Amino acid sequence: MTNGREQWSSKFGFILAAAGSAVGLGNIWKFPHMAGENGGGAFTLIYLICILVVGLPILLAEFTLGRRTQASPVGAFSALSDGSRWKWLGMLGVASAFVILSFYGVIGGWTIKYSLLALAGSFSDIASSAGGAQAEFDQFVANPVEPIFWHMIFMGLTVLIILKGVKGGIEKWSKALMPILLGILIVLVIRGVTLDGAMEGIRFLFSPKWGDLTTEGVVLALGHSFFTISLGMGTMITYGSYLRKDQDLLRAGLWVIFIDTAIALLAGVAIFTAVFALGQNPAGGPGLIFVVLPTIFPQMPGGAVFGFLFFALLFVAALTSAISILEVVIAYFIDEKQWSRTQATLAFGGIITMLGIFVSLSFGEYNVLKSFGEMNFFSLMDNMSSKYMLPIGGFLTAVFVLTRWGVPEFLKELQTGAAGMKIPLIPAIAVFGFAGLVVAYILLYEVFKVMFGAG
Ligand code: PFF
Repeated sequence: MTNGREQWSSKFGFILAAAGSAVGLGNIWKFPHMAGENGGGAFTLIYLICILVVGLPILLAEFTLGRRTQASPVGAFSALSDGSRWKWLGMLGVASAFVILSFYGVIGGWTIKYSLLALAGSFSDIASSAGGAQAEFDQFVANPVEPIFWHMIFMGLTVLIILKGVKGGIEKWSKALMPILLGILIVLVIRGVTLDGAMEGIRFLFSPKWGDLTTEGVVLALGHSFFTISLGMGTMITYGSYLRKDQDLLRAGLWVIFIDTAIALLAGVAIFTAVFALGQNPAGGPGLIFVVLPTIFPQMPGGAVFGFLFFALLFVAALTSAISILEVVIAYFIDEKQWSRTQATLAFGGIITMLGIFVSLSFGEYNVLKSFGEMNFFSLMDNMSSKYMLPIGGFLTAVFVLTRWGVPEFLKELQTGAAGMKIPLIPAIAVFGFAGLVVAYILLYEVFKVMFGAG
């Protein structure tokens, strides 16, 4: 089975591909607005702790599971548990990929539209229009045709990259796009911090206001730490399965987490310096990016260029993540069902694009979930994945390592390729146990809240 499996061409290529998966809409769109609504620095601190305490061990578990078995999630769990029911944990990952990509692709489409709006200099018209940027945004997403068109373009690009395979598609494009992403972000950070009043924004992001942090905020931070590092659905198992034995996985994991966190924080700096300097509300919610920013860019010198760069950044980040989500589905059909890459990519890229069409339509008058309060397909898919599917996947992965595969085997795989590294067993067990307990607590909190309305 491992014969002829595709492989990354270099250690660096793997790190960039994994970082490309991790860095996405979660860093640039979700993290800043979540921090904005949940106490700024206090949320940032909890988020950093969750990433180190829970994210890192589960990331390493996923890398090692993939590399040991040279298989995508279903095959990996199955191989290490003698074909037992654990394979359903892999199936949960494939299901999560459908759920996440269906809304991810829609927002990916919005980023293309907004890049072009910025480039055409339309943000100033938007900001000064009757209902302002909010009305323009609401009208755009509710339109039954245009956002679907951009969604299809975004998904088309995702499919084209995946068709080219691991080395020629995912690795090549991650290597090309990640440096561009970093370059754009640095330009935007410099623009942000040189605005008058920028310090307010930095203070907001980094100085904790504990009073604004609720238990709900802590739960969000944990769920987000899974989403932002692409954990809990086997993406990193899949990427790990294309690895050779000579990669130091601990070092790779630390790099991925460092890049992901640094980019989220830099995006926060770029956004909040501008938001505060130009007197806007940081708690703008999910619309912070698509509503608040288009009114800010026209007020700064060079706004059209910076506006374009910002949305291009969001687009690039979304694309390198979207390919990793689609790859989970494709690898399953290649490994387990013996489909060709082309067949699997065209079929499932197409099916997920169709699901996305429902998500997009649910922003407008075709929202069949209207009767369930504020819900639409987007919020349903987003909540289902970040609050439940990814944490459950991550929790069960920790349980799998602890009870089925065994921490000693995990350590053996982790130390392969890391010359001279020796991690003691008992602390490693404690780390997994603790990570599992934290996630279990958060999941129970969510379940109790839904059942009894506590909070
Ligand atoms: N990590 C991506 C982000 O922060 O936007 C989202 C994501 C990608 C989640 C891949 C899950 C995944 F498997």
